Amino acid sequence: MRFSNAATLFSLSSIAQAAPAAHGHQHVHTRNPQYGYGGGGQQYQSGIFYVNWAIYARAHMVTDLPADKLTKVNYAFANVNNVTGEVFLTDEWADIQFGYPGDVATNSSQLLGNFNQLYKLKQNNRNLKVILSVGGWSFRGNFRPALANEITRQKFCDSSLQLIADLGLDGIDIDWEYPEDATDSANLVDTVARCRKTFDEYAHVNAAGYHFDLGISAPAGPQRYTVFPIAELDPLIDNWNLMAFDYQGPGFSNFTGHLSNVYPSSTNPKTTNGWNSETQDFVPFNTKDAVDYYKTKATPSKIQLGMPLYGRSFANVVDLSKNQRGMGQKFNGSGEGTWEAGTLDYKVLPQNGTKLYHDKEVLGAWTWDAAKKQLVTFDTPEVAVWKADYLMAEGLGGAWWWDSSGDYPVSSKKSIVSAVVNRLGGPHNFRINTNNLYYPKSKYYNIRGAATNITLGRF
Ligand SMILES: *[C@@H]1O[C@H](CO)[C@@H](O)[C@H](O)[C@H]1NC(C)=O
Ligand SMILES: *[C@@H]1O[C@H](CO)[C@@H](O)[C@H](O)[C@H]1NC(C)=O
Ligand SMILES: *[C@@H]1O[C@H](CO)[C@@H](O)[C@H](O)[C@H]1NC(C)=O
Ligand SMILES: *[C@@H]1O[C@H](CO)[C@@H](O)[C@H](O)[C@H]1NC(C)=O
Ligand SMILES: *[C@@H]1O[C@H](CO)[C@@H](O)[C@H](O)[C@H]1NC(C)=O
Ligand SMILES: *[C@@H]1O[C@H](CO)[C@@H](O)[C@H](O)[C@H]1NC(C)=O
Repeated sequence: MRFSNAATLFSLSSIAQAAPAAHGHQHVHTRNPQYGYGGGGQQYQSGIFYVNWAIYARAHMVTDLPADKLTKVNYAFANVNNVTGEVFLTDEWADIQFGYPGDVATNSSQLLGNFNQLYKLKQNNRNLKVILSVGGWSFRGNFRPALANEITRQKFCDSSLQLIADLGLDGIDIDWEYPEDATDSANLVDTVARCRKTFDEYAHVNAAGYHFDLGISAPAGPQRYTVFPIAELDPLIDNWNLMAFDYQGPGFSNFTGHLSNVYPSSTNPKTTNGWNSETQDFVPFNTKDAVDYYKTKATPSKIQLGMPLYGRSFANVVDLSKNQRGMGQKFNGSGEGTWEAGTLDYKVLPQNGTKLYHDKEVLGAWTWDAAKKQLVTFDTPEVAVWKADYLMAEGLGGAWWWDSSGDYPVSSKKSIVSAVVNRLGGPHNFRINTNNLYYPKSKYYNIRGAATNITLGRF
């Protein structure tokens, strides 16, 4: 993840590559495992990130979310004040002010904007939680100072709770990219422990003991996850959103390669290796290594596999190979993009006039345009289904996507969300993930007022 390129607010940053440790190359490709559908039932989560800048040029609204195919919406992003630790909204117009069709504004104590619509989605989809995601790539620098002392860490939790209680949310997701050392890690663990306590105390009094979610957006690069306090956080949190993408891309790779492969390539290692500037060496990037590592420290069913709804495009590819497929070759610069150079929405892929290839060894796909000398790495529904099989075979807790504006409509055969949800057994095989509707302390009368219509005993 997470090039938080709100057109008007942020500028694109490039990703920091990670430096993995040595690892094994064991492939356990399980294409047709026996999952025991129906045995346990209700086992998978299906989450998606909605970005608050989607209401502008992308014209993608909260009301466009495929709510019945989801158990969770992660709303991106809130920021954190690097002096006080306070969590705050980043675009109040989008988040709480602008009127959707049918909204009639009365006064400022009425919640409007995306969060009002999300509350309505929750009323109509009781298995859908709305989670506020705090941080992301653009705001990554604020965490270290913000969580440096006890007072600011408590402020982080109190202000998060305030947003939950006012906006009618079901929890938060902390997306710190990334803790760098033992101090950062200890501060993150203490913050999460404080938030758990803070949320539970509120819930005991105001929400019949409802369990508000605490999630972590977690790195898939070895240099990052080996520093992450996975074992310490696991008992305190509800889920890991594993950011299993951006392994290769223009701006940070030496050769054209896969952005979100599950396995390393044995036949063409350049396509799945990244440059480690510390060791001055190429090292493997893949989901399998990350998942294997997390599983030694975390509860597998808490791990949700992140999948991209975008592609990365490489420009000026020089293909000197025999087979002329563009992969593992030198390139120069970012190719075409939908909103910025080098990144294409999945819903415009595969581009006309390109050749589409799949690699079943790594679980990846790409298009090659020899005339344009452009290669695009992305997931097709076929790849996404392979990944669904992989996550089920590994006993993971489900899937999630970055971001909701990138998919084809779920009614389309090309929809990745649909393909994966179907493969996971459909919504009837979702985990029970009941949301909260009862917010008696909300400063917004329409959210607070809805609470008077709810019998507490239902929770
Ligand atoms: C805190 O954020 C402000 C505003 O973005 C920035 O100017 C400042 O350098 C940051 N301070 C630290 C310690 O990161
Ligand atoms: C805002 O309008 C609502 C609905 O008419 C009303 O119940 C509430 O008292 C008003 N609040 C203020 C501060 O005027
Ligand atoms: C790979 O790219 C990095 C910069 O992104 C560069 O420093 C390094 O020398 C390159 N490695 C090789 C073998 O070309
Ligand atoms: C890569 O592209 C840049 C900008 O177009 C150009 O200046 C540079 O010479 C190119 N590098 C190579 C190795 O072709
Ligand atoms: C790609 O081709 C299809 C079918 O011929 C056409 O409907 C579509 O408009 C084309 N898309 C672009 C971007 O040219
Ligand atoms: C509460 O329920 C009443 C009766 O169904 C309805 O008219 C009213 O709009 C509801 N209030 C809120 C805030 O949802």
